[in-house]
Amino acid sequence: MPRRPRLLLLNGALAGNGGNTAAALAAARRRLVRNAAVETLTRAEAFADTPAGGALRGDLPPALVEALARADGFLFGTGTHWDGWSSVLQQFLEMATPLEGTSAWLGKPAAVVVTEHSVGGKAVLSRLQGVLVTLGCGLPPMSGLVLSRAALLAAAQDPAAARDFWSRSDLGVVCHNLLTAARVRAQPWKAWPVDRADFRGRWLEA
Ligand SMILES: Cc1cc2nc3c(=O)[nH]c(=O)nc-3n(C[C@H](O)[C@H](O)[C@H](O)COP(=O)(O)O)c2cc1C
Repeated sequence: MPRRPRLLLLNGALAGNGGNTAAALAAARRRLVRNAAVETLTRAEAFADTPAGGALRGDLPPALVEALARADGFLFGTGTHWDGWSSVLQQFLEMATPLEGTSAWLGKPAAVVVTEHSVGGKAVLSRLQGVLVTLGCGLPPMSGLVLSRAALLAAAQDPAAARDFWSRSDLGVVCHNLLTAARVRAQPWKAWPVDRADFRGRWLEA
């Protein structure tokens, strides 16, 4: 019987629970719950108990830190906003910086779903995957997907021509590969030294 991993779905979308990314993550969740214990956090819940100025102080709420710690793997979701990921996901990454290279991330697989209207999502996906690897995560094969409104419209118009475009059904592959990677017990990964004391320090004189 394969191990039943714990997966954390992190919805970093601007529109929170009511948006397009939430719809994609809900579809992923339906697939994943068959074989994993799945927890979903949206920015609204995750940052709910952040004190004023928390983002600038860079502290994640304790409940979110605990959710990261107990997860065996992650599925991140965001929209595309002016060629970038959402500001709330950016805020999350800034707040998660003290955990860089720690056991919260180290060696845990991270999958990513990006939604977009038409352009910029692939660059968001690739850059986000780069950040996640630098935090300490691993990337399973074929675990990053861009769901594009333009591609869905094209597929509705001409399914044969759009056969090679990413579609909702590719979520199945993303979920499968995330699950497969999350079942593997942690390897003895190492983290390089990380400045935990002064990484917000000023380094330029006026
Ligand atoms: C402020 C803003 C900027 C956006 N910029 C882009 C963009 O650069 N490229 C794109 O394809 N879609 C863009 N979109 C569309 C969103 O990426 C798309 O609707 C996405 O699914 C939104 O995710 P959400 O509903 O989960 O928040 C933008 C939407 C907003 C609100």
